Amino acid sequence: MAKVVLCYSGGLDTTVCIPILREKYGFDEVVTVTVDIGQPEDEIRYAERRGEKYADKHYTIDAKKEFVNAIFMLIKANGDYEGYVLGTALARPIIAEKVVEIAKKENADAIAHGATGKGNDQLRFDNIFFQHGFRVIAPMRELNLTREWEMEYAEKHGIEIPVTKDKPWSIDENLWSRSIEGGKLEDPSYIPPEEIYEWTLSAEKTPNEPEIIEIGFEKGIPISINGEKMDGVSLIRYLNEIGGKHGVGRTDMIEDRILGLKARENYEHPAATILITAHRDLEKLVLSRRELKFKKIVEEEWAELVYYGLVNEPLFEALNAFIDKTQERVTGWVRVKIYKGSCIPLARSSDFALYKEELTSFDSLELDQRFSEGYSRFHGLQGRIYNEIKKDLKTI
Ligand code: ARG
Repeated sequence: MAKVVLCYSGGLDTTVCIPILREKYGFDEVVTVTVDIGQPEDEIRYAERRGEKYADKHYTIDAKKEFVNAIFMLIKANGDYEGYVLGTALARPIIAEKVVEIAKKENADAIAHGATGKGNDQLRFDNIFFQHGFRVIAPMRELNLTREWEMEYAEKHGIEIPVTKDKPWSIDENLWSRSIEGGKLEDPSYIPPEEIYEWTLSAEKTPNEPEIIEIGFEKGIPISINGEKMDGVSLIRYLNEIGGKHGVGRTDMIEDRILGLKARENYEHPAATILITAHRDLEKLVLSRRELKFKKIVEEEWAELVYYGLVNEPLFEALNAFIDKTQERVTGWVRVKIYKGSCIPLARSSDFALYKEELTSFDSLELDQRFSEGYSRFHGLQGRIYNEIKKDLKTI
């Protein structure tokens, strides 16, 4: 009796995988697993219904808590890969770990997923599955299937084909971001139609009155909105809602995939834009100049590891330790204005501020500005000498 556990979204690709795993790979039992990382409730229920109907057994696993913890770390790291807020990338290893738990519990012989051979997700999934010693099956990558073949095959196996509504995009949605790719969007010179966006309004349609939001942080983690404490899921959902209403958090970009392929990607991520704008602003108030400069390098490396799905790297642990150390003082609040697609910090405050008004103020005598002249005599010294020499030496 060979058994396989399948990462299951309920869509056409992963649903045709069920009979394929039986017929073409010879498994006797297919167990589907859908992991809840904050995608819309009806999407989860849809996957559940279909898993129960077409597979031998189905599991729905709630991983919102794990995902929110990962998002909190991402906020501390100002997570950004080439301008992408890393939603899908961050979720994949969490999904994979949950699927592994089921595969172990079910005593499965293999794990299957619906990722293709051209994207990033195959690498992110496989890394975790191989780590736990599982055989991996990726029918989409291995069999080179076309959509047309899949539809016919689905029909032959009595699988209901999801209504495509003439929207041939590939969508991946979770609590942190919504990604839209494929179809006509694959032409980078094509201007996307408004309908690809579901979380955000275009600036033309947003309210004419701006909104000011205060975000409270504790050790780098957002804990409140306008003074009201909120749990992670509610806080992120709230900001997605209100940010989206003001058109905040749209990205249309060319992205370098892990394999080296360039891809055109469209994203929506209002909460991510608001939270990272606010978090960066607060960091500027409390972290030292050198911490900020060095942290940028750490952030770049951190984001790349997440994008690559290399969260089991020892370096990832070390970078997280550094980031956590810097966040001990990132406590305070930031007020941002959201308006017509923009998000701008307006005010900030922290007990840990390295900013001291009595030192910086034009009006204060606490720090005697006359002392600066001595510093100034040394500052720029080498440049002055160089320009002195340059006058006489024609060779430079
Ligand atoms: N490019 C992003 C990433 O690699 C998102 C991919 C999402 N997939 C999708 N089918 N829309 O993380």
